[in-house]
Amino acid sequence: MVLPWLSILMSLLALAVSVHCQPGFLSIDCGIAGGDNYTDDNTTIFYTSDTKFIDTGTNKEIATTYMTQTLPRQYQNLRIFPDGTRNCYTLTPVIKSNRYLLRASFMYGNYDGLDQPPQFDAYVGVNRWEINLPSNSSSHMWNEIITVASLDYISVCLVNTGNGTPFISALELRPLKNLAYLAANESQSLRLLYRNHFRQTASGPTIRYPDDAYDRIWTVWVRDGWTPINNSSPVDLWSDDYYYRLPLPVINTAVIPSDPNNNLTFYFSMNGDPKLQYHVYMHFAELQQLKRNQSREFNIIVNGNLFYGPLSPKYLYRNTIFSSSPLSGTKLHSVVISKTKSSTLPPIFNAEEIFVLEPLFRIPTDSRDVDAIMNIKVVYQIKRNWMGDPCVPSSYSWEGLNCSYPDSKPPTIISLNLSSSGLAGVLAPSLANLTSILSLDVSNNSLTGPVPEFLAELPSLKVLFDNNANVSGPYDINHCEAGSCKKRRRKIVVPILASSISALVMLIIMGFVLWKFTQRRRQRGAVVRDKAGGSIHKTQYKRNGSLHSENQRFTYTEVVNMTNNFESPIGNGGFGTVYHGQMREGTQVAVKMLSVQSVKLLSHPRQGSNEFQNEAQLLMRVHHKNVVPFIGYCQEGDNMALIYEYMALGNLGSHLSGTNSNSKALNWGQRLCIAVDVALGLEYLHNGCRPPIIHRDMKTTNILLNERLEAKIGDFGMSKVFLQDDEFTHISTAVKGTAGYLDPEYFGTNNLTHRSDVYSFGVVLLELITGQPAIIRNTDYEKRTLVDWACPIIAGGDIQSVADPSLEGDYDINSFWKVAEIVLACTSPRSIERPTMTEVVAELKDCLGTVTAAERTRSWKIDQVEKTSSISFQPSPR
Ligand SMILES: *[C@@H]1O[C@H](CO)[C@@H](O)[C@H](O)[C@H]1NC(C)=O
Ligand SMILES: *[C@@H]1O[C@H](CO)[C@@H](O)[C@H](O)[C@H]1NC(C)=O
Ligand SMILES: *[C@@H]1O[C@H](CO)[C@@H](O)[C@H](O)[C@H]1NC(C)=O
Ligand SMILES: *[C@@H]1O[C@H](CO)[C@@H](O)[C@H](O)[C@H]1NC(C)=O
Ligand SMILES: *[C@@H]1O[C@H](CO)[C@@H](O)[C@H](O)[C@H]1NC(C)=O
Ligand SMILES: *[C@@H]1O[C@H](CO)[C@@H](O)[C@H](O)[C@H]1NC(C)=O
Ligand SMILES: *[C@@H]1O[C@H](CO)[C@@H](O)[C@H](O)[C@H]1NC(C)=O
Ligand SMILES: *[C@@H]1O[C@H](CO)[C@@H](O)[C@H](O)[C@H]1NC(C)=O
Ligand SMILES: *[C@@H]1O[C@H](CO)[C@@H](O)[C@H](O)[C@H]1NC(C)=O
Ligand SMILES: *[C@@H]1O[C@H](CO)[C@@H](O)[C@H](O)[C@H]1NC(C)=O
Repeated sequence: MVLPWLSILMSLLALAVSVHCQPGFLSIDCGIAGGDNYTDDNTTIFYTSDTKFIDTGTNKEIATTYMTQTLPRQYQNLRIFPDGTRNCYTLTPVIKSNRYLLRASFMYGNYDGLDQPPQFDAYVGVNRWEINLPSNSSSHMWNEIITVASLDYISVCLVNTGNGTPFISALELRPLKNLAYLAANESQSLRLLYRNHFRQTASGPTIRYPDDAYDRIWTVWVRDGWTPINNSSPVDLWSDDYYYRLPLPVINTAVIPSDPNNNLTFYFSMNGDPKLQYHVYMHFAELQQLKRNQSREFNIIVNGNLFYGPLSPKYLYRNTIFSSSPLSGTKLHSVVISKTKSSTLPPIFNAEEIFVLEPLFRIPTDSRDVDAIMNIKVVYQIKRNWMGDPCVPSSYSWEGLNCSYPDSKPPTIISLNLSSSGLAGVLAPSLANLTSILSLDVSNNSLTGPVPEFLAELPSLKVLFDNNANVSGPYDINHCEAGSCKKRRRKIVVPILASSISALVMLIIMGFVLWKFTQRRRQRGAVVRDKAGGSIHKTQYKRNGSLHSENQRFTYTEVVNMTNNFESPIGNGGFGTVYHGQMREGTQVAVKMLSVQSVKLLSHPRQGSNEFQNEAQLLMRVHHKNVVPFIGYCQEGDNMALIYEYMALGNLGSHLSGTNSNSKALNWGQRLCIAVDVALGLEYLHNGCRPPIIHRDMKTTNILLNERLEAKIGDFGMSKVFLQDDEFTHISTAVKGTAGYLDPEYFGTNNLTHRSDVYSFGVVLLELITGQPAIIRNTDYEKRTLVDWACPIIAGGDIQSVADPSLEGDYDINSFWKVAEIVLACTSPRSIERPTMTEVVAELKDCLGTVTAAERTRSWKIDQVEKTSSISFQPSPR
């Protein structure tokens, strides 16, 4: 009884917190008094002053003439930067690698009485941010960019270009869900050009937070020939947890062409520059409940080519259409939304966003150097204009340091001049982290204490102290005078060199001993195994000249012995029957005998008789904790077998369907851990293997659980052997992937890609949520895919009604939602809209944080096995 109360209390607390401060929002009103803060009446956003984020600049107020009733409060004050070329805000805390919406707002408001709005440059990190500034005293402007944080802070710099004093009114930072606006990544940002929605009149309140959970600002677009319509039903089925999180007032209105036979056509361009690249996001939802004889279906044509279609948005179901590659190569881009021939209703269009892609071609300074120099700045409280990146852009590098700029590598700091900087105390240890530094001048300070050894460890450092410095150290540098350190340095270098040489000799000796040792162990290991399994081919090493010690080929007799003449079948895989077996030294194995039909396919002359062996060799090289360990294979005439480590708890499918005798229902924490395991395994196959491996038959019955309930992926790789040759794919439908898991794009392209695995993985996640199989029967005994049934319900926000009843409602709603969100992304019908496994892993790991320790504990499983399993488990020697 304690836990439910606790969780209710926790969620109440979470609610209370999120009401007062928007989660992860950084809302800075620049130029208000230090320590001030307020909640904006209209948006309920909580703003703070900027003093925590910058040391320089002066606060100003706009002229009273411009302080109108309708002017948002953030524009009333501004901070100006009369000193220094570059002044930077350091926005923190941010989560490294997270995607953020960053907005900077400007109002000059004739604060200086000159009525001359200045022009200046802005940078995000080290890359230029093209901003629009007000051209007169009365106007204000905001600029927005979607960017990925490359560090644990984001710096925003204003640069004086000689056209007036830079200023700023507000800075806002909003974290986005990881699966939204994927085009923004570490190497490119998205600068907002337009964000429009539609309504009956142009006037009315601005749509942003709290309607928009990401605090995007939506501008109304009114066009002749386009008729706005609104949702005819007041029902709100939208959940705000889907990753584009379109606000209800945005998606609840749309336009249709005033003449139902017309298209919805619009153009966009930025300065007519054909070199610019764009990303377009179009949002759709059906707002009318269609009658039986009505239909709405349309194509989206961009620059004369079909971009997407036909699209038939479902009733109150959000659809976001975007391309994975940017649009470019023309001065003016055209978008035509055109109804198909069979459609009885005109096209509908709810909202759009157009971004300019900004490649981030400048590489920031080596982050280790940045950390070190930031630390030095703090330790010595250095009062210089040290802001933003130390080395980049080179024209704004920090005063008193020089950098080296190697090609396509991060710049590093090579010299530092801290002379006459009022330094006191000892030399900061973080100096040691400036590993590329060649010259350090700390003369004319009041440093005390010993010269730390780390200074001597820096490879080719020239240090300048002065006579007055009261420093002493192991290397007698205190007698060293400015400019005369070179001679002394040799003294430092010699012992280091001497010790490096002896270290090198030691290393070589140790390496030799180790090599000898492993050689011996290898031989001994082989002999032991030979006795135990009777199956080792010692000659294998010699033949291949390689050290693939795991490379085991077994004879058929050995396979017969291992399985006790195929006594205990434990399953039926895609290509044949699987038997339980045991090697003589005790390792339990699963032996997959390929069926006669499969073998026939393999032995077809075009397929090449070595194909099986090649593939088996490939499997040997696959090692990952979430992939079923491959032990060896057998190939003797028509007898072909694959031998894997035995997984004590069987396959995931049997646990979810309740057919596994070992099983009681998996709890939510266990399901999450399994999901992460599988995602990691699949990510490894996609990205960790060369060549990458596409599983092609990802499903719950191919996910195996060991006695600790750790999930491992099985049955991959071989599918390639069978699937590669088009001539044979028609023979057996069984090997073409499994119904319910199959990428819908496969039917169009006949091609399975890693994105198809992502789709199938999404189905696996959906099974974990719902406990239902991938193909379900409805009340009319009609077959349907789980995706078709569950995804619209989830997208409609009603997640409880699809949750697996055997969870008995006991799950963390946040992680449950997040997984549901990932399911929607992975099972997106268009493969380009699906995330990569790397992105999925990142998202899922986030969820794990929400699992309670109690949920994660799996110990009961082991008891369960020991009590009920007929096979007594012996720990594997691996
Ligand atoms: C907001 O201002 C009040 C009064 O100055 C202060 O007590 C409070 O700590 C501030 N809150 C934040 C989050 O800065
Ligand atoms: C705040 O909202 C009210 C009512 O919608 C509107 O009249 C007023 O102009 C808004 N104020 C600002 C500063 O946006
Ligand atoms: C000020 O500039 C804005 C856009 O830059 C423009 O829309 C507005 O008409 C201008 N106002 C005056 C008074 O010139
Ligand atoms: C960012 O996305 C582009 C386009 O998809 C891709 O070419 C690039 O490699 C990505 N960069 C990173 C760091 O992922
Ligand atoms: C559309 O919205 C307007 C203003 O909110 C409302 O007066 C009108 O009745 C709505 N129309 C429909 C069809 O719901
Ligand atoms: C609408 O667009 C389609 C495709 O571009 C075109 O074939 C058709 O003529 C257009 N219809 C009208 C009325 O402009
Ligand atoms: C659809 O059915 C309604 C009657 O239910 C009828 O009035 C209307 O004309 C039909 N529309 C079409 C396009 O067939
Ligand atoms: C940086 O380089 C310039 C030009 O070579 C030189 O004058 C200056 O002393 C160097 N600064 C430091 C800190 O070494
Ligand atoms: C460091 O700066 C001081 C004065 O700014 C200058 O005299 C000195 O030569 C510089 N040191 C080096 C190594 O450039
Ligand atoms: C130097 O860098 C390492 C790792 O990059 C870090 O752990 C350590 O704290 C740094 N040392 C100092 C003194 O900053």
